[in-house]
Amino acid sequence: MIEVKDLTKFYGPRPAIKGITFKVNKGEVVGFLGPNGAGKSTTMNILCCILPASSGSAEICGYDVFEESLEVRKKIGYLPETPPLYPDMTVTGYLKFAAEIRRVPAKKVQAAVDRVLEKCVLQEVRQRIIGRLSKGFQQRVGLAQSMIHDPEILILDEPTIGLDPIQIIEIRKLIQDLAREHTIILSSHILPEITQICKRVIILNEGEIAAVDSLEGLTSSLNKSERFVLKVRNSQNNIQDKLSALDNVISVKAETEDQFLIECEMNSETQDRVARMALENSWGIEELKLVSMTLEEIFLHLTLEEHEPSEVKNGVGT
Ligand SMILES: Nc1ncnc2c1ncn2[C@@H]1O[C@H](COP(=O)(O)OP(=O)(O)OP(=O)(O)O)[C@@H](O)[C@H]1O
Ligand SMILES: [Mg+2]
Repeated sequence: MIEVKDLTKFYGPRPAIKGITFKVNKGEVVGFLGPNGAGKSTTMNILCCILPASSGSAEICGYDVFEESLEVRKKIGYLPETPPLYPDMTVTGYLKFAAEIRRVPAKKVQAAVDRVLEKCVLQEVRQRIIGRLSKGFQQRVGLAQSMIHDPEILILDEPTIGLDPIQIIEIRKLIQDLAREHTIILSSHILPEITQICKRVIILNEGEIAAVDSLEGLTSSLNKSERFVLKVRNSQNNIQDKLSALDNVISVKAETEDQFLIECEMNSETQDRVARMALENSWGIEELKLVSMTLEEIFLHLTLEEHEPSEVKNGVGT
């Protein structure tokens, strides 16, 4: 559905994206994750025919974004980082205008406006002036304009930025609903958002792809060590030292006086040996469980300088 090959964009002498390649299949909801300046908006602008690339190719439903931009525009709905709203217009007036510039046939404009008003839960504010709506509602109007021509693909650039927590939850829910009928690329640097909405993530860093994988895949490919938590009932002074002395244990951190985070080599059966040690020493196991790396940790790991991208590039284009 979306196929990007070796895409590069220079702003003057500086590359913003450097030869990125990825695919998005029909019906997928893919998260574009990356720190400020990673190249998320640049890539999205190219996919939406707003910016020309310097080299490489991008196809949407088989149409080239440079050569066949009119076809591509029919397939894509775009919510840019700053929603393209006219604050003096009413919601309905603006959506009608958006329908016209998207070449929705005149007879179908009213139905299109009604459809997006309903989808984005905007009926109550349909006659209000956009500039006087709350930011969350303005964002919904932005979403509504992006789908006025009923596109198959939605590209949403940081759709929840600047919203309060309640509005964030509402917009997120709306996107989850839209995901049932659309292929979506969503950018964000809010990590929980990506975990909640997207099945697959593309992590961009300094214009390059640091990883493309499912959330589970990312976690497991990065987990060269495993970590688990031991919580005991009978805390003793020497627990940390004893655990640290076990074979294959990399580190032991005392989180509280009766709870320890143990990092050990993968598949080293350390957990069994910890359990045995706890029994022999009558520590009283209250909890012993594996903890996987959070997306936040993965993100930091991938975007910090020392990472080696080749290790996590498996899954590119799948
Ligand atoms: N019009 C422009 N002219 C020159 N440089 C630009 C322009 N737009 C973006 N850049 C640069 O290109 C790089 C990528 O920017 P981009 O906006 O794509 O990043 P981003 O991942 O969307 O970041 P953010 O999370 O801050 O939105 C940055 O270094 C940015 O400064
Ligand atoms: Mg951006």
